[in-house]
Amino acid sequence: MKTNEYEHVPVLVNEVEQGLNIQQDGIYVDCTFGRGGHSRVILRNLNDKGKLFVFDKDPMAIEAAEVLAAEDFRVKVIHSAFSEISVYLNKEGLLGSVNGILFDLGISSPQVDDPERGFSFSQSGDLDMRMDPTSGVSAKDWINLSDESEISQVIRKYGEEKFSRRIARAIIESRDITPIATTADLSDIIVKAIPFPDKNKHPATRTFQAIRIYLNNELDELKAGLFEAYELLAVHGRLVVISFHSLEDRIVKRFMRQYSKNDPYPDDLPITSDKIKPALKMIGKLITPSNKEYETNVRARSAKLRIAEKLAT
Ligand SMILES: C[S@@+](CC[C@H](N)C(=O)[O-])C[C@H]1O[C@@H](n2cnc3c(N)ncnc32)[C@H](O)[C@@H]1O
Repeated sequence: MKTNEYEHVPVLVNEVEQGLNIQQDGIYVDCTFGRGGHSRVILRNLNDKGKLFVFDKDPMAIEAAEVLAAEDFRVKVIHSAFSEISVYLNKEGLLGSVNGILFDLGISSPQVDDPERGFSFSQSGDLDMRMDPTSGVSAKDWINLSDESEISQVIRKYGEEKFSRRIARAIIESRDITPIATTADLSDIIVKAIPFPDKNKHPATRTFQAIRIYLNNELDELKAGLFEAYELLAVHGRLVVISFHSLEDRIVKRFMRQYSKNDPYPDDLPITSDKIKPALKMIGKLITPSNKEYETNVRARSAKLRIAEKLAT
């Protein structure tokens, strides 16, 4: 597959641009490059002194980022999970110096649209679902080797699927006959296992989401990434996060609330809370797509944007 074969339409572009409050000569980090839609928006606001560090787990996204970096000296590309951003940026001496950090969570359209990546239940492909197929466990190995209770718990916890036990049972029964190999195999098993499907959602939606979140460690990545981002930001630096489902948004909302109410400090510190200043300020309220974007970009439909600014401590 070529990196430009599948397109990704970035969501909430103007809102991200405003939310980052971009300084022309500032230092910015795009933690989720994808195909660089948001990175290009940041770049159009930077002068020659500005810098943009881009991260992604996905080798195809990194290939696309290298193409951009070859034509724009302000771009530095790092193939890594965003839970490790400070490992790289500390080496550049950037702790406490970054003006804005963006997370556009989840998977990109090229990842979903390419059947070979195994994220899609609407087109059959090898059951993989790893954002970085060069490391970790594929969905195929996990689904064929895990025990029933683990499968059921993952589907319930990360997919909020009420038929998780039935689905896990059906998976075990099916793989006892033949191993599950493709996204279509798994989708068919789920369709047959669910007695009352949701009218507005494909029956496999929640289970696919759950397996993907679990195997890519998405929620722990997010918690670690937000903390790292906070440490890297300069005073008045902006943290901008787009999430796509309630489990992610809950983590972002809690993180921003907690840090804007002094809570990152341990309870047993020998000072009263009125002496401790908040670490972040929330900027505006939750932002969702306009009706126009909602109608024209299917991916935008569940997007939620939250913005916070680092305060002097
Ligand atoms: C929604 S897409 C980003 C799209 C991008 N903003 C654009 O305009 O093209 C999310 C990207 O984040 C990457 N990603 C998700 N979780 C990650 C993580 N923990 N570390 C690094 N990259 C991650 C995915 O591989 C995917 O390419």
